[in-house]
Amino acid sequence: MTERRDWRGVSKWKLDTPCLVVDQDKLERNIRAMQAHVTAFGKKLRPHAKTHKCSRIAMMQMEAGAVGICVAKVSEAEVLVRSGLKGTLITSPVVTDFKILKLMNCLALDPELMVVVDNPRNAQKLNDEAVRRGLRLNVLVDLDPGMGRTGVPFEESPALGRSVHSLPGLRLRGVQCYAGHVQHIASFDERMAASLGWMEKAANIVRRFRKDGLPSEIFTGSGTGTWEIDNRIPELTDLQAGSYTMMDAEYLGIGSSENPSHFAEFPAPLTLLTSVINNNHADHVTVDAGLKALYRDGATPYVLHPPSAEFEYTWRGDEHGQVSFPRGTARFELGDVLELVVSHCDPTVNLFDVLFMIRNEVVKDIWSVDMRGKCM
Ligand SMILES: Cc1ncc(COP(=O)(O)O)c(C=O)c1O
Repeated sequence: MTERRDWRGVSKWKLDTPCLVVDQDKLERNIRAMQAHVTAFGKKLRPHAKTHKCSRIAMMQMEAGAVGICVAKVSEAEVLVRSGLKGTLITSPVVTDFKILKLMNCLALDPELMVVVDNPRNAQKLNDEAVRRGLRLNVLVDLDPGMGRTGVPFEESPALGRSVHSLPGLRLRGVQCYAGHVQHIASFDERMAASLGWMEKAANIVRRFRKDGLPSEIFTGSGTGTWEIDNRIPELTDLQAGSYTMMDAEYLGIGSSENPSHFAEFPAPLTLLTSVINNNHADHVTVDAGLKALYRDGATPYVLHPPSAEFEYTWRGDEHGQVSFPRGTARFELGDVLELVVSHCDPTVNLFDVLFMIRNEVVKDIWSVDMRGKCM
């Protein structure tokens, strides 16, 4: 028998755990702050939804002024297209027949849909399918900023741009360059030097595209870690930041322009609640959040509540975690709830069906993580 309960109006401390809660005031504040920042620099925001995987949050970002939403996968784009959102950008190449079919179905519903390409054969294949369907697909050339993940090497990009531009089923719109490997460099100054180095190279390509008469009205890139760095690049038209909506221990632990050891500008709206299920030890308790509730990547999660610099979370397998403290210094009862900042927000959100939306510690609403599991 399934017990269904409406949790609205209930204190967050009474929720069934492990669960994810989102402080709605902080979320709204972060969305406003990022939008105001890019607008002040004459840029646009094209936030990445791979972080929150929630179309309601994507809608909030659009209402706040975003020019479109980024997703990583076609299956995520399908959710946004179905919810009526226009101009979604898929930031990874779409190469297989089945995915191209799904992409074209999305394009039929949203002619503004965009995708990146980093390979001429893929461009040809996308073109052939678009022509066959009587459609025209918006395309950005994806530049590889030395990561070796996706993207075309800078020097090969003008040729790829020319070949995309020559294909009747494709509409070249510009370039993408996302330097993911610099986003978490701890030192702000080192991050700035690394990011500006790559983004300058990408800006050179934009200038080259213009010289060659190739359309380049969009140069999209950047993330939360370089949000106050990349706006110095005049050619950059929009920022793709994603993590600022949720935040995590990994991001909060890097330096910012204001503070060398803490990324203070975006407080964490997202936290995880977990309950004590074993208190038989003098130096630790076992909690109900392990690998299946807290993704193990990036930094170590840390305990926000109850507050103590001495509490340390460690994973104890699939279902369990351990919160340790110096012997005899803390006492927890069975069922006590602890609040944690998660290690890495994107893959942790992907583990849950819903986000409990909280104001003043009370559940106001329950939002579906409707792009959860959409990794195809
Ligand atoms: C292509 C792309 N753009 C933007 C982002 C968002 O970056 P961040 O979460 O650091 O803000 C990501 C994240 O992985 C990404 O892969």
